[in-house]
Amino acid sequence: MRTPHVHGGFTHPDSYDRHTRRLLTRLRARILDDIAAAGLAPGSRILDVGTGPGRLPLAIADAFPSLRVDAVDLSAEMIEYARRAAGDTPVTFTVADVAHLPFPDDTFDLVVSSLSQHHWHDVPGGIGDLHRVLRPTGRMWIYDARYALYRATAAARASFAPASVTRVPIRASRLPIRLVARLEARA
Ligand SMILES: C[S@@+](CC[C@H](N)C(=O)[O-])C[C@H]1O[C@@H](n2cnc3c(N)ncnc32)[C@H](O)[C@@H]1O
Repeated sequence: MRTPHVHGGFTHPDSYDRHTRRLLTRLRARILDDIAAAGLAPGSRILDVGTGPGRLPLAIADAFPSLRVDAVDLSAEMIEYARRAAGDTPVTFTVADVAHLPFPDDTFDLVVSSLSQHHWHDVPGGIGDLHRVLRPTGRMWIYDARYALYRATAAARASFAPASVTRVPIRASRLPIRLVARLEARA
């Protein structure tokens, strides 16, 4: 099934990947640094939501082989593309909507998402389901354009303990301005 409207303006996973692979290197590096700083125990589970061509979960699996990495995307085409790109890298890719995740409660130690949240049709439903699949000590990090994170921030404050919800601007490009922010919440 083709879902061109959710590929960030690109009509095919291959063109999205070609245009963004290098462009998003800095953001991916920042997310890897954040994961390193989190000091997750071996065997911890990470979920990447709205993974697109799968570059982030593949980089996580390469950098942190002791972690178990899953990734989901609404687009079957993106997941097919990501599976091909993965080769032998141990990442499990699944077609799923963030608001209806096919995982039991309390499954993940960390949920990440990069530049996907502004596409979600049901932001409160998505945030609620991310909270559901997090373990009681788990964390959610959503990286997206700063201006696009207001609904997700409100939804996170309604679902998580409001004091655990923060939004930190980050530099994700060579530009001196901080266009992207990380929305964080703790289960
Ligand atoms: C702009 S791409 C970002 C891809 C990748 N995370 C990155 O940083 O390059 C947005 C992705 O979010 C996915 N997406 C949109 N709505 C979604 C939803 N409700 N649940 C899961 N994935 C979704 C799209 O299919 C698309 O692959």
